[in-house]
Amino acid sequence: MPGTRSRILVSFVATMDAPRIARTMAHNLLTGWGLSRTRQVPTMPQRSIVVPCRDASGTPIPASGWREADHERGWSVSQMSVLPPDDDKARYVAQMFARIAPGYDRMNRLMTFGLDRGWRAAAVSAIAPPHDARVLDVGTGTGDFVALLTPWVPQGLVVGVDFTVPMMHAGRWRHVDRRSQFVAGDALRLPFADARFDAVTTGFTVRNVSDIAAAFAEMARVTRPGGVLACLEVARPQQVLVRLGHRWYFEIVVPQLARALGADPTAYTYLPQSARRFPAPERLAELIADNGWSHVHYWRVGSGAAAIHVARRHA
Ligand SMILES: C[S@@+](CC[C@H](N)C(=O)[O-])C[C@H]1O[C@@H](n2cnc3c(N)ncnc32)[C@H](O)[C@@H]1O
Repeated sequence: MPGTRSRILVSFVATMDAPRIARTMAHNLLTGWGLSRTRQVPTMPQRSIVVPCRDASGTPIPASGWREADHERGWSVSQMSVLPPDDDKARYVAQMFARIAPGYDRMNRLMTFGLDRGWRAAAVSAIAPPHDARVLDVGTGTGDFVALLTPWVPQGLVVGVDFTVPMMHAGRWRHVDRRSQFVAGDALRLPFADARFDAVTTGFTVRNVSDIAAAFAEMARVTRPGGVLACLEVARPQQVLVRLGHRWYFEIVVPQLARALGADPTAYTYLPQSARRFPAPERLAELIADNGWSHVHYWRVGSGAAAIHVARRHA
């Protein structure tokens, strides 16, 4: 749909304050790559500052490396860590996704140039669920995987599980098929009996959980022996130039894009920061293999910006 894509791009560009964004991006580019002596000097305009998250009483939710003083100094979120401590990650992540839920799909399509759809489709094709399979999608969000899986299982069932109800609510209009269901639940304590599913999918979710190994073990628990797993996650390109371009795009452009579109720039600063901490595909394959899965293999997509892992549940 090249026509649709270019229309989306044109309307997106039209909504931006181009000169301001160009100035800000140039500044961030220089400071971000350590080419400027002003790296420590806060020069972002005050209105660009976003406090990561506040609880009901207005108290900022602590994020490692983030301090109230940074906010008062006028630092922008892209200059500080917005990653939460592990013991507070679930709450932080759930609140963040609840905030961005209404614009999540649009932002996803824009920042990946629509490629994310093809990556999910490739992950689903790789496990090719049979027509009567029961499939679980963990961290389903707005249900992109559920929508893709449903046509594969005319006599089966697809269940999406997520602990952020507003995400599932935001995607509800797409899911009118009785073969799909949505359930509120935590990936680390899935609300299902052992060996309940024939296949499990998960996309861009395990990066957000506080214990990746436990998440794969829990997915293995609810999958029958011989069942299959497909996991789609972010990765860092291997080729040096592509990696530099990718880093510039995700760390500088995407938060600006989020700001320009009225999305939450903190969330889209969390994205590259959490991606940097996330294990590389080879390490992720080991984690999967150590937690109930065999025949693990993976391949990179999007010039290495993402990776798809597939595996089989131990018999
Ligand atoms: C980046 S979104 C991905 C959504 C969807 N899978 C996709 O491919 O677009 C991550 C989702 O994982 C969910 N999530 C993160 N940690 C979770 C956990 N511990 N239990 C359940 N859901 C979780 C979030 O609420 C969010 O909806």
